[in-house]
Amino acid sequence: MHVIDQYRTTFTDYLSQKTQTKEPVNLYEPISYILELGGKRLRPILTLMAAALFGADHRKALDAALGIEVFHNFSLVHDDIMDDAPLRRGKATVHEKWDVNRGILSGDAMLINAYQLFESYDGPLFKNLVALFSKTAIEVCEGQQYDVDFETRDDVTIPEYLKMIEYKTAVLVAAALQMGAMIAEADTKAQRSIYQFGRNLGIAFQLMDDYLDAFGDPKTFGKQVGGDIIENKKTYLYLKALELGTAVHRKELVDLFSIQPQDPTDKIASIKEIFETSGAADATKKAISDYTEEAFAVLEQLQLSEDKKSILKTFGENLMRRKV
Ligand code: IPE
Ligand code: IPE
Ligand code: MG
Ligand code: MG
Ligand code: MG
Repeated sequence: MHVIDQYRTTFTDYLSQKTQTKEPVNLYEPISYILELGGKRLRPILTLMAAALFGADHRKALDAALGIEVFHNFSLVHDDIMDDAPLRRGKATVHEKWDVNRGILSGDAMLINAYQLFESYDGPLFKNLVALFSKTAIEVCEGQQYDVDFETRDDVTIPEYLKMIEYKTAVLVAAALQMGAMIAEADTKAQRSIYQFGRNLGIAFQLMDDYLDAFGDPKTFGKQVGGDIIENKKTYLYLKALELGTAVHRKELVDLFSIQPQDPTDKIASIKEIFETSGAADATKKAISDYTEEAFAVLEQLQLSEDKKSILKTFGENLMRRKV
């Protein structure tokens, strides 16, 4: 088994051991549901991997990894309410399966539980982990607010978009890695570099998420394909299409992104067509590859063996090729 799969197995075993549905069942059932729906487990794997690469026993990082994954799942439950999303990991979203109130409260409990998981660490390590966690969590909220604000704006710029995805997505990937390094007592410079590696990888990851939202295969993607188009999300695909498209493309894009038709089938088809013919789809693929390469360039600053760096590179390459 590849080392990445080993970390995933170790993590999911730990997660099942720690997740239980207790009273009140209406609070805990959605939590077990979302946590056990699976997902790629990207962030906790990165925490365990970073701890091991910087010389610690990866098991010491399990609670931090779980804290990060529980926080991530909390953010998904609330994100799906905000994005009015019906599907997550191929199953009904929490607010669809139950209702919005259960999504709100089980999400809140998960956020608090994520903090509790850091109580396993002591002294300065505890303080540093919690400080990074809080800073990151606030940034995620800021990113999510920008994402929603942009739905009704028609003058969003690419730098604004990049800041938005850095906050809503990349900082958590970066923090997941830095926490592993903190637990392994890596020096500050190494911590900073691994954070920057994660930040760039996280930006590539969200660009890919946007790409798959439009061009993913509905049979395997696990989320509603076209969801971002339905919600008028100002993604990289959209912003690049405005930049690269013809005047006719631009007008059609702006018009279609100001409406929310009952049946979105035609809107989704027309927009995807423009994303492709304008060159925006190719530009997005290029940006994914550029940010992944930028992440790899940051690795050069790290004093790690080539073997260790290649584990991180394999991980980054797999993310670029993903279909889910
Ligand atoms: C989805 O994250 C939300 C984003 C930040 C794009 P993932 O794509 O990591 O979701 P799971 O956990 O694998 O389902
Ligand atoms: C979500 O971004 C980021 C967070 C949950 C913080 P998206 O809204 O693009 O994520 P998906 O596509 O629903 O997974
Ligand atoms: Mg969403
Ligand atoms: Mg969202
Ligand atoms: Mg998305």
